[in-house]
Amino acid sequence: MKISAKTKICMVIGNPIEHSLSPQIHNAGYEKLGIESDYVYVACNVEIQNIADFIKGVRAMQIRGVSCTIPHKIEVMKHLDEVDEVAEKIGAVNTIVNENGVLNGYNTDWLGVVIALEKVTSLKNKRVALIGAGGAARAVAYGVTQRGAKLTIYNRTIEKAKELINEFGGEAYSLDDIEGIKNMDIIFNATSVGLASNKNETPLPKELMTNKHIIFDAIYVPYETRLLREAKQQGATIIHGMEMLLQQAIAQFKLYTGHDAPEDVMRNVLLDNLITKEKKYAN
Ligand code: ATR
Repeated sequence: MKISAKTKICMVIGNPIEHSLSPQIHNAGYEKLGIESDYVYVACNVEIQNIADFIKGVRAMQIRGVSCTIPHKIEVMKHLDEVDEVAEKIGAVNTIVNENGVLNGYNTDWLGVVIALEKVTSLKNKRVALIGAGGAARAVAYGVTQRGAKLTIYNRTIEKAKELINEFGGEAYSLDDIEGIKNMDIIFNATSVGLASNKNETPLPKELMTNKHIIFDAIYVPYETRLLREAKQQGATIIHGMEMLLQQAIAQFKLYTGHDAPEDVMRNVLLDNLITKEKKYAN
């Protein structure tokens, strides 16, 4: 046990939060870098109506960093001292850094998307199809357009796709017109279709995917969704949702500690946990 009175506390909040893998990956990173006496990372279940009190607690206890999950990402914004321009544009804060009593809000979700994609391809002038137009989709829309990609959004509710396109530019279609997705370079699923609770579903018919596509699913439980399995069968390049989770956490790690995160160690912790979970589902 390396925790002492000098150890700074970081945490993830949400409701529910018990399933979060953030404590494992951040603490594994601290350990690898030998800074586990400087930082510890925990999880707290915070009910949305208590968010103002929670932030008072962050100030009073001088908590160093807070990672926020849905629905806290939006709710915390009005309680912070500063929200950076990017988080403002995305409309959500997933990272709070306490700088000597000043609470700054950031968004690293978009970086998770962009960094994971840029390990495989450049985004400049690429045609990106985004399926979904909810909270997760906003960070994707910001990230890919910021990197110079051309955005097309497909959503069950076309009005929501149009709203996002009004902000970020591009074209909006309903899911009934998804055929056109064949001509895209990158396809990103930001809907909840394919989550563990409906893991036999997919947002995209298999025959619309080809070996020219890069297919990225934001869902990371199950580790490999039906969409990604079928994409692989079609010869497409796939990116697991876990990569987005990992890369946004790596960006947070740097903001909290000032250190570059040990990516491989953190990836292995995530993989171990997600694949163990997957095995549980199979049984
Ligand atoms: P999140 O914050 O995780 O993005 P959200 O804001 O509730 O969650 O957005 C969920 C997205 O999944 C939306 O784009 C939603 O489509 P609608 O805008 O039409 O609601 C999409 N979605 C959820 N269930 C779906 C389903 N069965 N078929 C197609 N799209 C679905």
